[in-house]
Amino acid sequence: MSKKYVPDILKKYQTGEKLVMVTAYDYTFASLFDHAGVDMLLVGDSLGNVVQGKESTLAVTVEQTIYHSEQVARAAKSALVIADMPFMSYQLNAEEALRQAGNIMKESGVGAVKLEGGQKVKEAIEKITSAGIPVVGHVGLTPQSIHQTGLKVQGRKSKDEKRVIEDARAVEAAGAFCVVLEGIPEDLARRVTKELSIPTIGIGAGVHCSGQVLVMHDLLGLKPVGNDFSPKFVKKYTDLREAVLSAAKQFISEVEDGQFPTEEHSYGSSKALKAVK
Ligand code: KIV
Repeated sequence: MSKKYVPDILKKYQTGEKLVMVTAYDYTFASLFDHAGVDMLLVGDSLGNVVQGKESTLAVTVEQTIYHSEQVARAAKSALVIADMPFMSYQLNAEEALRQAGNIMKESGVGAVKLEGGQKVKEAIEKITSAGIPVVGHVGLTPQSIHQTGLKVQGRKSKDEKRVIEDARAVEAAGAFCVVLEGIPEDLARRVTKELSIPTIGIGAGVHCSGQVLVMHDLLGLKPVGNDFSPKFVKKYTDLREAVLSAAKQFISEVEDGQFPTEEHSYGSSKALKAVK
């Protein structure tokens, strides 16, 4: 398995094969997804939701992004690792965006950064890419704007549809090598995918995108007890919550009953000790 760089991702896209991206936040899961063969690992700011248990992604910091991205980048022998730029790390101006993107790359070892927004972040994308840092765009539903838009499907009305298309065009023109399309109708995603000459990675955007991304906790069914909400676009490929609960309950019961550890899981006494006995 050789390390993937942006040209390898684009080569796969140009052959018409679908691209696969999954989020990861730590060494072990990143190593498993990498071994399974995903093309890209995204250290999403969904970190705020699925790891930190917060309501939104807004509180994630650059330091936390670096901490998690470094683990994922170290684990990835093949996948291209992308770090999500946290809220307010790139919105101030293009210079600050470049400074923060450079900082994240140097400290974590990722191969690209992602930032949300279209026309509004055009200058930031231009500045970051001009320094040799690959950028993934993110348009449609952008969770960092939750207080403006809510978490609802975007681009349903013709005015909004136009905005999504223009945002995607702006991201491509600014130099992004790839763009995430989140929470938009599948017809609109098909149109954007057809029009752009960079890959589109969909999440809640239907089958016509150049690839798909899911949050790892969603695809693995790894959810806190009491949280059974699952958006329509999520497919749960296994039920790790059930597996963890069942293993934990068995461990508790075996320890309490004295069934664990057995000899198999214990160190025998030394010969000298045996002789004394
Ligand atoms: O933060 C994240 O996990 C993301 C994906 C949903 C694309 O941005």
